[in-house]
Amino acid sequence: MSELTAVVHDAAEVVVSEGDEAPLHRVENAAVAIEDGHVVAVGPSDEITREYPPENARHTVDATGRSVIPGFVDSHTHACFAGDRSDEFEAKLRGKTYQEIMAEGGGILRTVRATREANDDELLQHLLSHLDTMLSHGSTTVEVKSGYGLDTDTELRMLDAIRRADEQHPVDVVATFMGAHAVPEGRDTDDYVEEVVSEQLPAVETQGVAEFCDVFCEEGVFSVEQSRQVLEAGVEHGLTPKVHAEEFVHIGGARLAADLDAASADHLLQANDSDVGTLTESDVTPVFLPGTAFSLGEAYADARSFVDSGSPVAVATDFNPNCYSQSMPFAVALACVGMKLTPAEALVAGTEGGARALNRTGGLGTLREGAPADLVVLDAPSYRHIPYNFGVNPVSAVLKEGEVVHAE
Ligand code: NIG
Ligand code: FE
Repeated sequence: MSELTAVVHDAAEVVVSEGDEAPLHRVENAAVAIEDGHVVAVGPSDEITREYPPENARHTVDATGRSVIPGFVDSHTHACFAGDRSDEFEAKLRGKTYQEIMAEGGGILRTVRATREANDDELLQHLLSHLDTMLSHGSTTVEVKSGYGLDTDTELRMLDAIRRADEQHPVDVVATFMGAHAVPEGRDTDDYVEEVVSEQLPAVETQGVAEFCDVFCEEGVFSVEQSRQVLEAGVEHGLTPKVHAEEFVHIGGARLAADLDAASADHLLQANDSDVGTLTESDVTPVFLPGTAFSLGEAYADARSFVDSGSPVAVATDFNPNCYSQSMPFAVALACVGMKLTPAEALVAGTEGGARALNRTGGLGTLREGAPADLVVLDAPSYRHIPYNFGVNPVSAVLKEGEVVHAE
C-alpha cells in the first residue's frame, strides 16, 4: 500500500512543468497530492482533495493565497569553505579587480589558507549552515565543489564534508571535485596539473564521493590544454566534466566543454556567437551565474542569445566567498533584470535547467505527476513575484520528497 505523504491544497497557483513546447503552465485554485515521496496528482483543488483527502495525509499544507513551484536545483556552488572575504568586496567596490586581488594572494588563495586551517567539524558545520540558508530560500538540490584545498588531503577532507552534509541535511548535495580551481602559491602550473592528474584524481576515485570534475579554464589560471588534461583524466577516473568557461577572458573553454561532452559550461560572461552555436548543438548545459556579475559589477552574460537559439539553460547562485548569496530567488531576479529572461524562463532555468546541468533525468526540477515531490510554497500568489518582489525571501515552506523540511 502506498502512503499518502502529503497534500498541498487550495493554492492560488501551482506551476506545472510541461516539457519543451511550453515549459510551464499555471493551474489556479490547485492542489498537489504526494505518495511515497512522488507527486501522484496535480489539478483543481476540489478534485484532488476529493480523491486524496488531506486528513488521510501525514502532512497537510494549506496554500491559500500562495504559489507552489518545483524546488530549486542550485547547480553551481562553492559552499564548502572557511574564512571571510567581506573586506575584498569593499576593495572591489573601490576599484580593485578580481584578478588583482588574486595576484596579491587574496581571493581563492586566501580561502585556501583558511580552509586548510579549518578542522573537519568546522568545515562540515559551515557547510550545513549554508545549506540551511539555501533550503530556507527554496533550494532542494545543491551542487557543491571542492577546490579550496589544492592538496590531496584537504581536497579529500572537503569532499568528505560534502558527503556528510548530504547524509545529514534534507537538501540533496551533489559533489564536484575541483582540485584545478587555482594554482597553489609558489607552484608551477604544469607541475600542479600533474599532481591533480596523478595524485589527487586517483585518491578522489578511491574515496568515491565526487560525481563531476570541474576546472577554472581561464587566462592566468588553467589554459584550455591544461584544463583538457585534467578533465580527460577525470573521465578516466569516472568523473563527468564541467567547465568554468569564458568568465573573464575568452580562451575557448566553451568549445572544450563541447569537445569533452561536459555536463555544463558555466559563467560564459565572454561567450561569443560561435559559442552559442557550439553549445546549442551540443548536450552541454550553459549555466549562468548572474550573482557573480552583480557582485563584481561586471556586465551580465548574454543568456538571452542562448535561450533564443533554443538551448535549455540553467541559472545558479555560484555561492562562494566572492559571490556571497545562497539565494536562488535572488539569482532568478538577476536573471530577469540583468539577462532579460522572462520570469518563467528564469524559473525553469533555476529548476529543470539546474537538474540538466547535473545530468539528472527523471523529473528532478519539475512539478508533474511522477516527479520527486520537491516543492516550494511561496508567500506570494504567483511565481512572478520571485523577481518582482526582489530582495526578500519569498519562501514560506519547503517539501523534500513530500516531507515538510522547512516552514516559516
Ligand atoms: O565560480 N571563478 C572561479 N571560481 C569561483 C570563485 C571562487 C572564489 O573567488 O573564491 C566562481 O566564481
Ligand atoms: Fe564557480
